[in-house]
Amino acid sequence: MLHYYAPPTYPFPTFTLRISNQPHRRMASYLEQNQERFLSELIDWLRIPSVSADPKFHGDVLRAADYLKARFEEVGLENVELCPTAGNPIVYGEKLIDPSLPTVLVYGHYDVQPADPYELWTSGPFEPVIKDGKIYARGACDDKGQVYMHVKALELMNQEGGVPCNVKVMIEGEEEIGSNNLGIFVRNNKEKLKADVILISDTGMLSNEQPSIEVGLRGLSYHEVEVTGPNRDLHSGLYGGAVANPINVLCKMIASLHDENNHITIPAFYDNVAVLSEQERAELNRVPHSDEEFMQSIGLPATYGEKGYTTVERIGIRPTLDVNGIWGGYTGEGAKTVIASKAYAKISMRLVPNQTSEEITQIFQQHFESIAPAGVTVVVKPHHGGEPVVTPTDSVAYKAAADAMETTFGKRPIPTRGGGSIPIVAMFKSELGLDTVLLGFGLDSDAIHSPNEHYGVFNFLKGIETIPHFYRNYAAAATK
Ligand code: BES
Ligand code: MN
Ligand code: MN
Repeated sequence: MLHYYAPPTYPFPTFTLRISNQPHRRMASYLEQNQERFLSELIDWLRIPSVSADPKFHGDVLRAADYLKARFEEVGLENVELCPTAGNPIVYGEKLIDPSLPTVLVYGHYDVQPADPYELWTSGPFEPVIKDGKIYARGACDDKGQVYMHVKALELMNQEGGVPCNVKVMIEGEEEIGSNNLGIFVRNNKEKLKADVILISDTGMLSNEQPSIEVGLRGLSYHEVEVTGPNRDLHSGLYGGAVANPINVLCKMIASLHDENNHITIPAFYDNVAVLSEQERAELNRVPHSDEEFMQSIGLPATYGEKGYTTVERIGIRPTLDVNGIWGGYTGEGAKTVIASKAYAKISMRLVPNQTSEEITQIFQQHFESIAPAGVTVVVKPHHGGEPVVTPTDSVAYKAAADAMETTFGKRPIPTRGGGSIPIVAMFKSELGLDTVLLGFGLDSDAIHSPNEHYGVFNFLKGIETIPHFYRNYAAAATK
């Protein structure tokens, strides 16, 4: 029998009366006693391959939603339902205790990225195992493991009279494919989703010793490009040198998108990029970061990126352009002498305030088509997008989260600007007028989207322990 969680030894905050600390002590011991069951429930959920990108997993996606719905009901959420969309259902539940109290809307996603390439996993992506204190499975950290912390935090709070404010929980099944249907759902259900703040655990922190809270997410503009040359594949000896080779051309076009300083060359690309003051940049660069450790953690001899910016800035506050995949021609065994008729690539741009995905999508498409040489035709097909966001650090909710982490980690969390994207967050602001707190417990080393994704048992249990503190702090401070 393995025990990961021991009740905390940290001092409870001195500003609360001793008696109000008792519920948290009791919740901590409930967590200790039930940790194995919590883990095995999560593992059962992780067994369901809820891959949203691939239609062959559609049945599994629905099973994962059903599983979560049942767990919602078990922890006493009310009006639990699967809200249908044009795509995967949204799992919704709520606990409304008093209209005069504030309402927290929890968001997360139960869909996961494809597990490919399977051969690089040391154990099956959908056969979760706990190894060296970590749960290995697709979705362990992103985002099923982090969503499940919220479900179990509700169970913990139930041991002590329930939630201290109103709670709505909305977990979608299409985050990894752009959240388009959730966007429609949010727009059409403003009354149902009425709340005071959004709470999300779908991001990371600096380390288990130094907690942090992400206060920025980048936006996204994602495209598939197709370059067409001759009307059929050609013998590369009979035709080579006399026709535009779509693969050569595509590589040249892609290479031209950055200059020698790794600046993006698309005209007007940087026009709306928010420029930080020297003071803000200095502040940002105060986060503990070591390029040495960064390089070592991913096996690199050097960093690489836009000249004039640090690694922290390149990830947090600068827009970027990356090829995510490229294919065409002969890639099988041995050699085949051929000039392919077509070449393809998937190209994404991460956006920062005040760029918009619409603007960037339009200028990328226009530019990429304009640089096509004579002899090929180029088609740019936009995929999903998302807007960048910055969340406030001076709000009641941010402070409630920072105080909660300080209590359970024994260290004040640092605000950081994250490089990833969660497309719905900007819409929560624009459609519902709500700010978000990104109370994430993942680590960059958790290998999300990669083979051998994992989530620390410590992180999972620490999240369950921290979330009730957030509710208590927030309910106390936000109640007028
Ligand atoms: N949870 C991630 C985003 C994330 C991870 C943000 C870590 C900050 C820190 C989310 O599931 C994700 O992967 N988003 C996608 C965007 C989506 C439109 C495919 C991304 O960032 O690529
Ligand atoms: Mn996620
Ligand atoms: Mn993801």
